[in-house]
Amino acid sequence: MQNLPFEFSHGGYIKEQTGQQRTALRALTTETIDVETDFDYLFPDSARDPNSLLPADNNQDIIDKLKKLGEAIIDREGPEPDDANSIIPPVYTYWGQFIDHDITANTDRAVTDLQTDITKDDFTPLSPDFVIDKLKNLRRPIFDLDSVYGDGPTLDPEKPTQAKDFYQENDPVKLKVGVNAKEDASGRPIPGAKIPPEEDLSRDLPRNNRIAAIADSRNDENLIVAQFHTAFLRFHNAVVDWVRKNEPKNAQDNKKLFVRAQTLVRWHYQWLVVNDFLKTVTASKTVDSILCDGLKFYHPRNGNLFMPLEFSVAAYRFGHSMVRAAYDYNRNFTNKPGALTDATFNLLFAFTGKRDIGGPPGPGPSNTLPFNWIIEWDRFVDKESAAKRQRNSARKIDTHLAFPLSKLINEGNKDPQDPDPIQQLLKHLAKRNLLRGYFLSIPTGQSLADKLGITKLTVEELKQGNSPELNQALEPFLEKTPAWYYVLKESEVRAKGDSLGEVGSRIVAETIIGLIKNDQSSYLNECQHEHGHKHDHERDFARKHNRVWNPSKGVKLPNGGEIRTISDFLEFAGVLPASSC
Ligand code: HEM
Repeated sequence: MQNLPFEFSHGGYIKEQTGQQRTALRALTTETIDVETDFDYLFPDSARDPNSLLPADNNQDIIDKLKKLGEAIIDREGPEPDDANSIIPPVYTYWGQFIDHDITANTDRAVTDLQTDITKDDFTPLSPDFVIDKLKNLRRPIFDLDSVYGDGPTLDPEKPTQAKDFYQENDPVKLKVGVNAKEDASGRPIPGAKIPPEEDLSRDLPRNNRIAAIADSRNDENLIVAQFHTAFLRFHNAVVDWVRKNEPKNAQDNKKLFVRAQTLVRWHYQWLVVNDFLKTVTASKTVDSILCDGLKFYHPRNGNLFMPLEFSVAAYRFGHSMVRAAYDYNRNFTNKPGALTDATFNLLFAFTGKRDIGGPPGPGPSNTLPFNWIIEWDRFVDKESAAKRQRNSARKIDTHLAFPLSKLINEGNKDPQDPDPIQQLLKHLAKRNLLRGYFLSIPTGQSLADKLGITKLTVEELKQGNSPELNQALEPFLEKTPAWYYVLKESEVRAKGDSLGEVGSRIVAETIIGLIKNDQSSYLNECQHEHGHKHDHERDFARKHNRVWNPSKGVKLPNGGEIRTISDFLEFAGVLPASSC
Protein backbone atom coordinates (compact mmCIF):
# COMPACT_ATOMS: atom_id res chain seq x y z
CA MET A 1 0.00 0.00 0.00
CA GLN A 2 1.14 3.50 -0.67
CA ASN A 3 0.25 6.85 0.71
CA LEU A 4 -2.30 8.55 -1.44
CA PRO A 5 -0.41 10.80 -3.81
CA PHE A 6 -3.47 12.90 -4.48
CA GLU A 7 -5.59 15.60 -3.08
CA PHE A 8 -9.23 14.51 -2.92
CA SER A 9 -11.44 17.11 -4.34
CA HIS A 10 -15.17 17.61 -4.58
CA GLY A 11 -17.32 14.55 -4.68
CA GLY A 12 -14.29 12.40 -5.14
CA TYR A 13 -12.73 13.81 -8.29
CA ILE A 14 -9.04 13.61 -7.68
CA LYS A 15 -6.77 16.29 -8.97
CA GLU A 16 -3.20 15.30 -9.37
CA GLN A 17 -1.24 18.25 -8.08
CA THR A 18 1.80 19.39 -9.92
CA GLY A 19 4.99 21.24 -9.11
CA GLN A 20 4.88 23.85 -6.43
CA GLN A 21 1.17 23.38 -5.79
CA ARG A 22 1.67 19.73 -4.99
CA THR A 23 4.41 20.42 -2.48
CA ALA A 24 2.40 23.16 -0.85
CA LEU A 25 -0.81 21.17 -0.56
CA ARG A 26 0.75 17.90 0.43
CA ALA A 27 2.59 19.51 3.26
CA LEU A 28 -0.70 20.81 4.56
CA THR A 29 -3.16 18.03 3.94
CA THR A 30 -2.02 14.57 4.72
CA GLU A 31 -4.42 11.96 3.46
CA THR A 32 -4.12 9.47 6.25
CA ILE A 33 -6.13 6.59 4.98
CA ASP A 34 -3.83 4.16 3.38
CA VAL A 35 -6.06 1.52 1.85
CA GLU A 36 -7.11 -0.05 -1.40
CA THR A 37 -10.17 -2.28 -1.27
CA ASP A 38 -12.31 -3.98 -3.89
CA PHE A 39 -15.01 -2.65 -6.11
CA ASP A 40 -17.18 -5.32 -7.67
CA TYR A 41 -20.64 -5.63 -9.18
CA LEU A 42 -23.61 -6.64 -7.12
CA PHE A 43 -24.76 -8.49 -10.24
CA PRO A 44 -21.60 -9.47 -12.14
CA ASP A 45 -23.54 -11.65 -14.58
CA SER A 46 -25.56 -8.66 -15.69
CA ALA A 47 -22.45 -6.52 -16.03
CA ARG A 48 -21.01 -9.20 -18.37
CA ASP A 49 -24.21 -9.62 -20.37
CA PRO A 50 -24.45 -7.23 -23.34
CA ASN A 51 -28.27 -7.43 -23.11
CA SER A 52 -28.10 -5.78 -19.70
CA LEU A 53 -25.85 -2.94 -20.79
CA LEU A 54 -26.08 0.09 -23.03
CA PRO A 55 -24.68 -0.86 -26.46
CA ALA A 56 -20.88 -0.84 -26.51
CA ASP A 57 -20.62 -0.41 -30.28
CA ASN A 58 -21.52 2.91 -31.76
CA ASN A 59 -20.04 4.35 -28.58
CA GLN A 60 -19.55 7.89 -29.90
CA ASP A 61 -23.25 8.09 -30.62
CA ILE A 62 -24.17 6.79 -27.13
CA ILE A 63 -21.75 9.23 -25.48
CA ASP A 64 -23.31 12.07 -27.38
CA LYS A 65 -26.84 10.99 -26.43
CA LEU A 66 -25.92 10.55 -22.77
CA LYS A 67 -24.60 14.11 -22.72
CA LYS A 68 -27.92 15.33 -24.16
CA LEU A 69 -29.79 13.39 -21.49
CA GLY A 70 -27.56 14.95 -18.81
CA GLU A 71 -28.23 18.40 -20.21
CA ALA A 72 -32.00 17.81 -20.17
CA ILE A 73 -32.28 16.90 -16.49
CA ILE A 74 -30.73 20.12 -15.23
CA ASP A 75 -33.10 22.92 -14.18
CA ARG A 76 -33.14 26.19 -16.04
CA GLU A 77 -31.34 28.97 -14.16
CA GLY A 78 -33.57 30.83 -11.70
CA PRO A 79 -35.38 30.33 -8.38
CA GLU A 80 -36.28 26.77 -7.43
CA PRO A 81 -40.00 26.02 -7.72
CA ASP A 82 -41.81 24.89 -4.53
CA ASP A 83 -42.81 21.64 -6.20
CA ALA A 84 -39.11 20.75 -6.35
CA ASN A 85 -39.15 20.26 -2.57
CA SER A 86 -39.45 16.92 -0.78
CA ILE A 87 -40.49 16.19 2.79
CA ILE A 88 -36.93 15.20 3.71
CA PRO A 89 -34.97 17.74 5.79
CA PRO A 90 -31.78 18.92 4.06
CA VAL A 91 -29.39 17.47 6.65
CA TYR A 92 -30.00 14.08 4.98
CA THR A 93 -28.41 15.31 1.75
CA TYR A 94 -25.12 16.16 3.44
CA TRP A 95 -25.25 13.25 5.83
CA GLY A 96 -25.59 11.17 2.66
CA GLN A 97 -22.54 12.82 1.18
CA PHE A 98 -20.60 12.29 4.42
CA ILE A 99 -21.48 8.56 4.29
CA ASP A 100 -20.31 8.36 0.69
CA HIS A 101 -16.95 9.82 1.72
CA ASP A 102 -16.64 7.31 4.58
CA ILE A 103 -17.03 4.21 2.42
CA THR A 104 -16.28 4.87 -1.23
CA ALA A 105 -13.81 6.87 -3.30
CA ASN A 106 -12.15 6.78 -6.66
CA THR A 107 -14.80 5.77 -9.19
CA ASP A 108 -14.07 9.03 -10.95
CA ARG A 109 -10.38 8.51 -11.47
CA ALA A 110 -8.97 7.35 -14.74
CA VAL A 111 -8.23 3.69 -14.19
CA THR A 112 -4.55 2.96 -13.70
CA ASP A 113 -2.75 1.88 -16.88
CA LEU A 114 -5.46 3.35 -19.02
CA GLN A 115 -5.13 6.39 -21.20
CA THR A 116 -8.83 7.01 -21.57
CA ASP A 117 -11.65 8.28 -19.41
CA ILE A 118 -15.00 10.02 -19.71
CA THR A 119 -13.43 13.23 -20.95
CA LYS A 120 -12.61 11.54 -24.28
CA ASP A 121 -15.37 11.78 -26.87
CA ASP A 122 -14.74 8.26 -28.10
CA PHE A 123 -14.06 6.21 -24.99
CA THR A 124 -15.20 2.60 -25.02
CA PRO A 125 -16.84 1.09 -21.94
CA LEU A 126 -14.40 -0.92 -19.84
CA SER A 127 -14.94 -4.63 -19.47
CA PRO A 128 -16.23 -5.56 -16.00
CA ASP A 129 -13.27 -7.88 -15.44
CA PHE A 130 -10.86 -5.06 -16.16
CA VAL A 131 -12.76 -2.74 -13.82
CA ILE A 132 -12.75 -5.26 -10.98
CA ASP A 133 -9.07 -5.92 -11.49
CA LYS A 134 -7.84 -2.35 -11.87
CA LEU A 135 -10.22 0.04 -10.16
CA LYS A 136 -9.65 0.17 -6.42
CA ASN A 137 -11.70 1.81 -3.71
CA LEU A 138 -9.57 4.18 -1.64
CA ARG A 139 -11.79 3.66 1.39
CA ARG A 140 -12.56 0.73 3.66
CA PRO A 141 -16.14 -0.25 2.88
CA ILE A 142 -17.13 -0.25 6.54
CA PHE A 143 -18.70 2.42 8.68
CA ASP A 144 -15.59 3.01 10.75
CA LEU A 145 -15.34 6.77 10.18
CA ASP A 146 -11.85 6.53 8.69
CA SER A 147 -12.73 9.87 7.11
CA VAL A 148 -12.73 11.33 10.63
CA TYR A 149 -10.14 9.26 12.49
CA GLY A 150 -7.57 8.53 9.79
CA ASP A 151 -5.34 5.90 11.35
CA GLY A 152 -5.91 7.30 14.84
CA PRO A 153 -3.80 9.21 17.36
CA THR A 154 -0.26 8.26 18.29
CA LEU A 155 -0.73 6.77 21.73
CA ASP A 156 2.28 4.52 21.56
CA PRO A 157 5.47 6.37 20.52
CA GLU A 158 6.72 3.11 19.03
CA LYS A 159 3.82 3.15 16.61
CA PRO A 160 3.44 6.68 15.24
CA THR A 161 0.33 7.32 13.17
CA GLN A 162 -0.03 9.50 10.11
CA ALA A 163 -3.11 11.16 11.57
CA LYS A 164 -1.44 12.31 14.77
CA ASP A 165 -1.65 15.97 13.77
CA PHE A 166 -5.43 15.73 13.75
CA TYR A 167 -5.43 15.04 17.49
CA GLN A 168 -4.98 17.55 20.30
CA GLU A 169 -1.41 17.86 21.60
CA ASN A 170 -2.37 18.11 25.26
CA ASP A 171 -5.14 15.50 25.13
CA PRO A 172 -4.33 13.14 22.26
CA VAL A 173 -7.53 11.09 22.63
CA LYS A 174 -9.46 14.13 21.39
CA LEU A 175 -9.66 15.45 17.85
CA LYS A 176 -8.65 19.00 17.01
CA VAL A 177 -11.48 21.40 16.22
CA GLY A 178 -10.98 24.71 14.41
CA VAL A 179 -11.54 28.10 16.00
CA ASN A 180 -13.79 30.60 14.27
CA ALA A 181 -12.52 34.04 13.29
CA LYS A 182 -14.04 36.91 15.31
CA GLU A 183 -12.70 39.60 13.02
CA ASP A 184 -11.13 39.72 9.62
CA ALA A 185 -7.41 39.46 9.04
CA SER A 186 -7.04 43.26 9.29
CA GLY A 187 -8.82 43.35 12.65
CA ARG A 188 -12.07 44.75 11.26
CA PRO A 189 -15.41 43.44 12.48
CA ILE A 190 -17.11 40.82 10.33
CA PRO A 191 -20.55 41.97 9.18
CA GLY A 192 -23.66 40.10 10.31
CA ALA A 193 -25.55 39.11 13.43
CA LYS A 194 -23.96 37.04 16.18
CA ILE A 195 -25.12 33.45 16.56
CA PRO A 196 -25.64 32.06 20.05
CA PRO A 197 -23.94 30.66 22.02
CA GLU A 198 -21.59 33.52 21.16
CA GLU A 199 -18.78 32.29 23.38
CA ASP A 200 -18.55 28.98 21.48
CA LEU A 201 -15.99 29.60 18.77
CA SER A 202 -15.09 25.94 18.12
CA ARG A 203 -17.31 25.50 15.11
CA ASP A 204 -14.92 25.02 12.21
CA LEU A 205 -12.72 22.27 10.85
CA PRO A 206 -9.12 22.54 12.07
CA ARG A 207 -7.17 24.33 9.36
CA ASN A 208 -3.59 25.02 8.31
CA ASN A 209 -3.43 28.05 6.06
CA ARG A 210 -7.11 27.58 5.29
CA ILE A 211 -6.77 23.97 4.16
CA ALA A 212 -8.73 21.58 6.38
CA ALA A 213 -6.54 19.23 8.40
CA ILE A 214 -8.94 16.29 8.27
CA ALA A 215 -8.66 12.72 7.09
CA ASP A 216 -10.80 13.16 3.96
CA SER A 217 -10.48 16.54 2.33
CA ARG A 218 -13.72 15.93 0.38
CA ASN A 219 -15.47 16.83 3.63
CA ASP A 220 -14.41 20.43 3.12
CA GLU A 221 -15.85 20.65 -0.38
CA ASN A 222 -18.82 22.69 0.77
CA LEU A 223 -19.71 24.42 3.98
CA ILE A 224 -22.60 22.15 4.95
CA VAL A 225 -20.65 18.91 4.76
CA ALA A 226 -17.74 20.70 6.50
CA GLN A 227 -20.04 21.70 9.34
CA PHE A 228 -21.36 18.13 9.50
CA HIS A 229 -17.79 16.83 9.78
CA THR A 230 -17.14 19.42 12.51
CA ALA A 231 -20.12 17.96 14.40
CA PHE A 232 -18.42 14.54 14.28
CA LEU A 233 -15.19 15.96 15.70
CA ARG A 234 -17.18 17.51 18.53
CA PHE A 235 -19.32 14.43 19.06
CA HIS A 236 -16.19 12.32 19.51
CA ASN A 237 -14.71 14.80 21.99
CA ALA A 238 -17.99 14.94 23.93
CA VAL A 239 -18.05 11.13 24.07
CA VAL A 240 -14.51 11.15 25.52
CA ASP A 241 -15.73 13.52 28.25
CA TRP A 242 -18.79 11.33 28.83
CA VAL A 243 -16.69 8.15 29.21
CA ARG A 244 -14.33 9.91 31.62
CA LYS A 245 -17.28 10.94 33.73
CA ASN A 246 -19.54 7.91 33.50
CA GLU A 247 -17.21 4.97 32.90
CA PRO A 248 -14.02 5.76 34.83
CA LYS A 249 -12.92 2.13 34.45
CA ASN A 250 -12.73 2.63 30.70
CA ALA A 251 -10.73 5.82 31.11
CA GLN A 252 -7.82 4.43 33.08
CA ASP A 253 -5.36 4.84 30.26
CA ASN A 254 -5.47 6.72 26.98
CA LYS A 255 -5.55 3.64 24.78
CA LYS A 256 -8.51 2.13 26.57
CA LEU A 257 -10.28 5.47 26.63
CA PHE A 258 -9.76 6.16 22.95
CA VAL A 259 -10.91 2.69 21.90
CA ARG A 260 -14.03 2.91 24.08
CA ALA A 261 -14.93 6.41 22.85
CA GLN A 262 -14.28 5.55 19.21
CA THR A 263 -16.35 2.37 19.51
CA LEU A 264 -19.26 4.28 21.02
CA VAL A 265 -19.05 6.95 18.31
CA ARG A 266 -19.00 4.31 15.56
CA TRP A 267 -21.93 2.37 17.00
CA HIS A 268 -24.04 5.47 17.46
CA TYR A 269 -23.23 6.50 13.89
CA GLN A 270 -23.98 3.04 12.46
CA TRP A 271 -27.21 2.74 14.42
CA LEU A 272 -28.32 6.17 13.20
CA VAL A 273 -27.37 5.36 9.60
CA VAL A 274 -29.66 2.32 9.70
CA ASN A 275 -32.48 3.63 11.89
CA ASP A 276 -32.63 7.29 10.93
CA PHE A 277 -30.83 7.92 7.62
CA LEU A 278 -31.87 4.77 5.76
CA LYS A 279 -35.40 4.76 7.14
CA THR A 280 -35.80 8.34 5.92
CA VAL A 281 -34.45 7.97 2.40
CA THR A 282 -35.59 4.44 1.47
CA ALA A 283 -39.09 3.08 0.89
CA SER A 284 -40.87 2.17 4.12
CA LYS A 285 -40.28 -1.37 5.38
CA THR A 286 -37.13 -1.89 3.26
CA VAL A 287 -34.85 -1.60 6.28
CA ASP A 288 -37.03 -3.68 8.58
CA SER A 289 -37.45 -6.41 6.02
CA ILE A 290 -33.66 -6.67 5.56
CA LEU A 291 -33.05 -6.61 9.30
CA CYS A 292 -35.70 -9.26 9.95
CA ASP A 293 -35.45 -11.52 6.90
CA GLY A 294 -31.76 -11.09 6.16
CA LEU A 295 -29.79 -9.92 3.16
CA LYS A 296 -30.84 -11.26 -0.20
CA PHE A 297 -28.29 -9.73 -2.56
CA TYR A 298 -25.23 -8.39 -0.78
CA HIS A 299 -22.79 -11.07 0.34
CA PRO A 300 -19.02 -10.78 0.79
CA ARG A 301 -17.02 -12.10 -2.19
CA ASN A 302 -14.16 -14.49 -1.56
CA GLY A 303 -14.52 -13.66 2.10
CA ASN A 304 -14.02 -9.93 1.50
CA LEU A 305 -16.34 -7.00 1.75
CA PHE A 306 -16.55 -5.09 -1.51
CA MET A 307 -18.16 -1.88 -2.65
CA PRO A 308 -20.83 -2.54 -5.30
CA LEU A 309 -20.39 -0.37 -8.37
CA GLU A 310 -24.17 -0.26 -8.87
CA PHE A 311 -24.20 1.58 -5.51
CA SER A 312 -21.25 3.96 -6.00
CA VAL A 313 -21.82 4.83 -9.62
CA ALA A 314 -25.62 4.78 -9.80
CA ALA A 315 -28.04 4.21 -6.92
CA TYR A 316 -26.20 6.08 -4.18
CA ARG A 317 -25.70 9.10 -6.39
CA PHE A 318 -29.42 9.70 -5.82
CA GLY A 319 -28.25 12.37 -3.37
CA HIS A 320 -27.18 14.62 -6.23
CA SER A 321 -30.83 15.28 -6.99
CA MET A 322 -31.50 16.35 -3.37
CA VAL A 323 -28.99 19.22 -3.54
CA ARG A 324 -30.61 22.69 -3.50
CA ALA A 325 -29.50 25.79 -5.36
CA ALA A 326 -29.98 27.85 -2.16
CA TYR A 327 -30.47 27.18 1.55
CA ASP A 328 -31.88 28.72 4.69
CA TYR A 329 -28.38 28.37 6.18
CA ASN A 330 -28.41 30.67 9.19
CA ARG A 331 -29.78 34.07 10.25
CA ASN A 332 -27.19 35.90 8.11
CA PHE A 333 -27.31 33.78 5.00
CA THR A 334 -30.86 33.07 3.88
CA ASN A 335 -33.51 34.70 1.74
CA LYS A 336 -35.35 36.01 4.80
CA PRO A 337 -35.59 39.73 5.65
CA GLY A 338 -32.64 41.16 7.58
CA ALA A 339 -30.13 38.68 6.21
CA LEU A 340 -26.83 39.70 4.63
CA THR A 341 -27.32 37.64 1.51
CA ASP A 342 -28.79 34.37 0.36
CA ALA A 343 -26.90 31.12 0.99
CA THR A 344 -26.50 30.06 -2.58
CA PHE A 345 -24.91 26.78 -3.58
CA ASN A 346 -22.02 28.68 -5.11
CA LEU A 347 -21.35 30.64 -1.92
CA LEU A 348 -21.51 27.49 0.17
CA PHE A 349 -18.94 25.94 -2.12
CA ALA A 350 -16.80 29.07 -2.16
CA PHE A 351 -16.68 29.28 1.63
CA THR A 352 -14.32 26.42 2.21
CA GLY A 353 -10.61 26.13 2.67
CA LYS A 354 -10.18 25.41 -1.00
CA ARG A 355 -11.62 28.74 -1.95
CA ASP A 356 -11.88 31.98 -0.08
CA ILE A 357 -13.31 31.60 3.36
CA GLY A 358 -15.34 34.53 4.46
CA GLY A 359 -15.24 36.67 1.37
CA PRO A 360 -16.29 37.12 -2.19
CA PRO A 361 -14.05 35.67 -4.90
CA GLY A 362 -10.52 36.86 -4.34
CA PRO A 363 -8.54 36.46 -1.19
CA GLY A 364 -11.07 36.17 1.61
CA PRO A 365 -10.61 38.13 4.79
CA SER A 366 -10.20 35.24 7.23
CA ASN A 367 -8.09 32.13 7.56
CA THR A 368 -10.78 30.24 9.42
CA LEU A 369 -14.54 30.33 9.20
CA PRO A 370 -16.02 33.59 10.54
CA PHE A 371 -18.09 33.05 13.70
CA ASN A 372 -21.31 34.08 11.99
CA TRP A 373 -20.90 31.69 9.08
CA ILE A 374 -21.57 28.65 11.25
CA ILE A 375 -24.62 26.61 10.35
CA GLU A 376 -27.82 26.83 12.40
CA TRP A 377 -28.75 23.15 12.34
CA ASP A 378 -32.31 23.69 13.54
CA ARG A 379 -33.03 24.90 9.99
CA PHE A 380 -31.81 21.59 8.55
CA VAL A 381 -33.22 18.82 10.73
CA ASP A 382 -36.88 19.43 11.37
CA LYS A 383 -39.23 16.94 9.69
CA GLU A 384 -42.34 19.01 10.43
CA SER A 385 -40.85 22.02 8.77
CA ALA A 386 -39.68 19.91 5.80
CA ALA A 387 -43.21 18.55 5.39
CA LYS A 388 -44.26 22.06 4.30
CA ARG A 389 -42.09 21.58 1.20
CA GLN A 390 -40.38 24.93 1.40
CA ARG A 391 -36.75 25.91 1.75
CA ASN A 392 -36.14 23.74 4.77
CA SER A 393 -36.47 20.63 2.64
CA ALA A 394 -34.09 18.69 0.49
CA ARG A 395 -35.11 18.65 -3.13
CA LYS A 396 -37.10 15.67 -4.30
CA ILE A 397 -35.26 12.57 -5.43
CA ASP A 398 -36.17 12.96 -9.07
CA THR A 399 -34.93 13.70 -12.56
CA HIS A 400 -34.63 17.44 -11.99
CA LEU A 401 -31.25 18.65 -10.78
CA ALA A 402 -30.41 22.09 -9.42
CA PHE A 403 -28.87 24.41 -12.00
CA PRO A 404 -25.50 24.99 -10.24
CA LEU A 405 -24.78 21.25 -10.57
CA SER A 406 -24.15 21.93 -14.23
CA LYS A 407 -21.55 24.61 -13.42
CA LEU A 408 -19.64 23.18 -10.44
CA ILE A 409 -17.40 26.00 -9.36
CA ASN A 410 -14.67 23.87 -7.83
CA GLU A 411 -14.46 21.20 -10.52
CA GLY A 412 -12.34 21.48 -13.62
CA ASN A 413 -10.45 24.74 -13.65
CA LYS A 414 -11.51 27.84 -11.77
CA ASP A 415 -12.86 29.72 -14.76
CA PRO A 416 -16.57 28.91 -15.16
CA GLN A 417 -16.59 30.61 -18.58
CA ASP A 418 -13.77 28.52 -20.00
CA PRO A 419 -15.32 27.15 -23.21
CA ASP A 420 -12.98 24.14 -23.30
CA PRO A 421 -15.34 21.13 -23.61
CA ILE A 422 -13.38 19.03 -21.09
CA GLN A 423 -13.63 21.77 -18.47
CA GLN A 424 -17.34 22.17 -19.18
CA LEU A 425 -17.86 18.42 -18.82
CA LEU A 426 -16.02 18.26 -15.49
CA LYS A 427 -18.31 20.99 -14.19
CA HIS A 428 -21.48 19.13 -15.22
CA LEU A 429 -22.45 16.55 -12.62
CA ALA A 430 -25.37 14.98 -14.50
CA LYS A 431 -23.27 14.31 -17.60
CA ARG A 432 -20.44 12.93 -15.49
CA ASN A 433 -22.73 10.50 -13.68
CA LEU A 434 -24.26 9.20 -16.89
CA LEU A 435 -20.94 8.86 -18.70
CA ARG A 436 -19.35 7.23 -15.64
CA GLY A 437 -22.09 4.61 -15.59
CA TYR A 438 -21.47 3.83 -19.27
CA PHE A 439 -17.67 3.83 -18.87
CA LEU A 440 -17.80 1.41 -15.93
CA SER A 441 -20.40 -0.94 -17.50
CA ILE A 442 -23.14 -0.46 -14.95
CA PRO A 443 -26.18 -2.63 -15.85
CA THR A 444 -29.31 -0.81 -16.97
CA GLY A 445 -32.14 0.06 -14.59
CA GLN A 446 -34.37 -2.56 -16.19
CA SER A 447 -31.86 -5.35 -15.70
CA LEU A 448 -31.35 -4.33 -12.05
CA ALA A 449 -35.12 -4.40 -11.49
CA ASP A 450 -35.24 -7.89 -13.02
CA LYS A 451 -32.43 -9.14 -10.81
CA LEU A 452 -34.11 -7.71 -7.72
CA GLY A 453 -37.49 -9.14 -8.70
CA ILE A 454 -39.13 -5.71 -8.82
CA THR A 455 -41.71 -4.67 -11.42
CA LYS A 456 -39.93 -2.62 -14.06
CA LEU A 457 -40.89 0.97 -14.87
CA THR A 458 -43.04 1.13 -17.98
CA VAL A 459 -42.15 3.36 -20.89
CA GLU A 460 -45.03 5.61 -19.79
CA GLU A 461 -43.57 5.87 -16.31
CA LEU A 462 -40.11 6.64 -17.67
CA LYS A 463 -41.60 9.53 -19.63
CA GLN A 464 -44.17 10.65 -17.07
CA GLY A 465 -44.14 14.39 -16.34
CA ASN A 466 -41.06 15.00 -18.49
CA SER A 467 -40.53 18.10 -20.56
CA PRO A 468 -40.61 17.53 -24.33
CA GLU A 469 -36.82 18.10 -24.41
CA LEU A 470 -36.23 15.48 -21.76
CA ASN A 471 -38.45 12.95 -23.50
CA GLN A 472 -36.62 13.56 -26.73
CA ALA A 473 -33.27 12.98 -25.03
CA LEU A 474 -34.65 9.89 -23.29
CA GLU A 475 -36.02 8.29 -26.46
CA PRO A 476 -32.86 6.22 -27.22
CA PHE A 477 -32.82 4.91 -23.64
CA LEU A 478 -36.42 3.80 -23.11
CA GLU A 479 -35.66 0.09 -23.36
CA LYS A 480 -32.23 0.26 -21.77
CA THR A 481 -32.16 3.08 -19.26
CA PRO A 482 -28.99 4.24 -17.50
CA ALA A 483 -29.27 3.01 -13.89
CA TRP A 484 -28.77 6.45 -12.30
CA TYR A 485 -31.59 8.01 -14.33
CA TYR A 486 -33.77 4.97 -13.66
CA VAL A 487 -33.33 5.18 -9.87
CA LEU A 488 -34.22 8.89 -9.90
CA LYS A 489 -37.26 8.34 -12.11
CA GLU A 490 -38.45 5.40 -10.05
CA SER A 491 -38.37 7.57 -6.95
CA GLU A 492 -40.21 10.36 -8.80
CA VAL A 493 -43.07 8.31 -10.20
CA ARG A 494 -43.45 5.67 -7.51
CA ALA A 495 -42.58 7.58 -4.33
CA LYS A 496 -43.35 11.23 -5.24
CA GLY A 497 -39.66 12.00 -4.84
CA ASP A 498 -40.01 11.72 -1.06
CA SER A 499 -37.92 8.56 -0.83
CA LEU A 500 -36.13 6.18 -3.14
CA GLY A 501 -38.29 3.71 -5.07
CA GLU A 502 -37.94 -0.03 -4.68
CA VAL A 503 -34.88 -0.63 -6.87
CA GLY A 504 -33.01 2.33 -5.38
CA SER A 505 -34.06 1.43 -1.84
CA ARG A 506 -32.97 -2.19 -2.18
CA ILE A 507 -29.54 -1.42 -3.62
CA VAL A 508 -28.85 1.33 -1.11
CA ALA A 509 -30.17 -0.49 1.96
CA GLU A 510 -28.73 -3.91 1.02
CA THR A 511 -25.31 -2.39 0.50
CA ILE A 512 -25.29 -0.31 3.67
CA ILE A 513 -26.81 -2.94 5.95
CA GLY A 514 -24.75 -5.65 4.20
CA LEU A 515 -21.56 -3.76 4.99
CA ILE A 516 -22.56 -3.15 8.60
CA LYS A 517 -23.80 -6.69 9.20
CA ASN A 518 -20.66 -8.24 7.76
CA ASP A 519 -18.33 -6.01 9.74
CA GLN A 520 -17.55 -8.07 12.83
CA SER A 521 -16.86 -4.93 14.83
CA SER A 522 -20.16 -3.21 14.05
CA TYR A 523 -23.01 -2.57 16.46
CA LEU A 524 -24.99 -5.41 14.87
CA ASN A 525 -22.35 -7.86 16.10
CA GLU A 526 -21.88 -6.31 19.50
CA CYS A 527 -23.01 -9.31 21.52
CA GLN A 528 -20.01 -11.10 20.06
CA HIS A 529 -17.59 -8.51 21.48
CA GLU A 530 -19.06 -8.50 24.92
CA HIS A 531 -19.60 -12.22 25.36
CA GLY A 532 -17.00 -13.86 23.18
CA HIS A 533 -17.82 -15.72 19.98
CA LYS A 534 -21.50 -16.39 19.38
CA HIS A 535 -23.07 -18.83 17.01
CA ASP A 536 -25.18 -17.45 14.18
CA HIS A 537 -28.44 -18.68 15.71
CA GLU A 538 -27.59 -16.97 19.01
CA ARG A 539 -26.85 -13.73 17.17
CA ASP A 540 -30.12 -14.00 15.25
CA PHE A 541 -31.96 -14.62 18.50
CA ALA A 542 -30.32 -11.58 20.06
CA ARG A 543 -31.23 -9.48 17.04
CA LYS A 544 -34.81 -10.67 17.02
CA HIS A 545 -35.23 -9.85 20.66
CA ASN A 546 -33.66 -6.47 20.26
CA ARG A 547 -30.70 -7.45 22.38
CA VAL A 548 -28.10 -6.13 19.96
CA TRP A 549 -26.50 -2.84 20.84
CA ASN A 550 -28.89 0.07 20.73
CA PRO A 551 -28.76 3.67 21.96
CA SER A 552 -30.02 2.70 25.42
CA LYS A 553 -26.50 1.26 25.89
CA GLY A 554 -24.75 4.39 24.65
CA VAL A 555 -24.07 7.94 25.78
CA LYS A 556 -26.94 10.07 27.08
CA LEU A 557 -27.91 13.70 26.70
CA PRO A 558 -27.78 15.85 29.85
CA ASN A 559 -31.52 15.25 30.34
CA GLY A 560 -30.97 11.48 30.15
CA GLY A 561 -32.29 11.24 26.58
CA GLU A 562 -30.90 8.67 24.18
CA ILE A 563 -29.30 9.41 20.80
CA ARG A 564 -32.05 8.19 18.47
CA THR A 565 -32.09 10.82 15.73
CA ILE A 566 -29.58 12.99 13.95
CA SER A 567 -30.92 15.93 16.00
CA ASP A 568 -29.98 14.11 19.23
CA PHE A 569 -26.54 13.48 17.76
CA LEU A 570 -26.02 17.16 16.89
CA GLU A 571 -27.33 18.16 20.29
CA PHE A 572 -24.86 15.87 22.07
CA ALA A 573 -22.11 17.38 19.91
CA GLY A 574 -23.16 20.79 21.24
CA VAL A 575 -23.93 22.24 17.82
CA LEU A 576 -27.73 22.19 18.03
CA PRO A 577 -29.51 23.84 20.94
CA ALA A 578 -31.39 21.43 23.22
CA SER A 579 -34.94 20.87 21.96
CA SER A 580 -37.64 22.38 24.13
CA CYS A 581 -39.89 19.31 24.04
C1 HEM B 1 -23.32 18.54 -2.34
C2 HEM B 1 -23.11 18.50 -3.59
C3 HEM B 1 -22.38 17.40 -4.31
C4 HEM B 1 -21.50 17.57 -5.32
C5 HEM B 1 -21.09 18.89 -5.93
C6 HEM B 1 -21.03 16.27 -5.70
C7 HEM B 1 -20.13 16.06 -6.71
C8 HEM B 1 -19.66 14.84 -7.11
C9 HEM B 1 -18.71 14.60 -8.15
C10 HEM B 1 -18.09 15.69 -9.03
C11 HEM B 1 -18.49 13.28 -8.22
C12 HEM B 1 -17.60 12.55 -9.22
C13 HEM B 1 -18.42 12.32 -10.47
C14 HEM B 1 -17.72 11.46 -11.49
O1 HEM B 1 -17.00 12.00 -12.33
O2 HEM B 1 -17.92 10.23 -11.51
C15 HEM B 1 -19.28 12.66 -7.19
C16 HEM B 1 -19.26 11.32 -6.88
C17 HEM B 1 -20.09 10.73 -5.97
N1 HEM B 1 -21.09 11.35 -5.25
FE1 HEM B 1 -21.42 13.32 -5.13
N2 HEM B 1 -21.63 15.32 -4.94
C18 HEM B 1 -22.47 15.97 -4.06
C19 HEM B 1 -23.30 15.37 -3.14
C20 HEM B 1 -23.49 14.01 -3.02
C21 HEM B 1 -24.50 13.39 -2.21
C22 HEM B 1 -25.51 14.17 -1.39
C23 HEM B 1 -24.36 12.05 -2.36
C24 HEM B 1 -25.15 10.91 -1.77
C25 HEM B 1 -26.14 11.02 -0.90
C26 HEM B 1 -23.25 11.83 -3.26
C27 HEM B 1 -22.80 10.60 -3.67
C28 HEM B 1 -21.72 10.40 -4.51
C29 HEM B 1 -21.11 9.11 -4.75
C30 HEM B 1 -21.50 7.77 -4.15
C31 HEM B 1 -20.06 9.33 -5.63
C32 HEM B 1 -19.04 8.29 -6.11
C33 HEM B 1 -17.90 8.26 -5.09
C34 HEM B 1 -16.81 7.27 -5.50
O3 HEM B 1 -15.93 7.66 -6.28
O4 HEM B 1 -16.87 6.12 -5.10
N3 HEM B 1 -22.76 13.04 -3.65
N4 HEM B 1 -20.01 13.62 -6.54
